[in-house]
Amino acid sequence: MDKPLIAAKNPAMLNLEPGEYYWCACGRSSNQPFCDGPHHGTSITPVAFKADKGQQAFLCLCKHSSNKPFCDGSHNNL
Ligand code: FES
Repeated sequence: MDKPLIAAKNPAMLNLEPGEYYWCACGRSSNQPFCDGPHHGTSITPVAFKADKGQQAFLCLCKHSSNKPFCDGSHNNL
């Protein structure tokens, strides 16, 4: 199992429009916090999630959250 890279040790605060999103789990995307493809060649795949209505979200950038794709404060322990 490949380990994710730490993209940043803070969450990304976003105002999400309703829709489906693919959160980058590998840490290699250049479009954090979303997947843009470079997980190919690793054993890591993006995490799909939906926003049913416009909402503010704190998305994990350290890639170690236990509540992916959302921040759970794990970056404080890295
Ligand atoms: Fe990281 Fe796709 S680029 S999961």
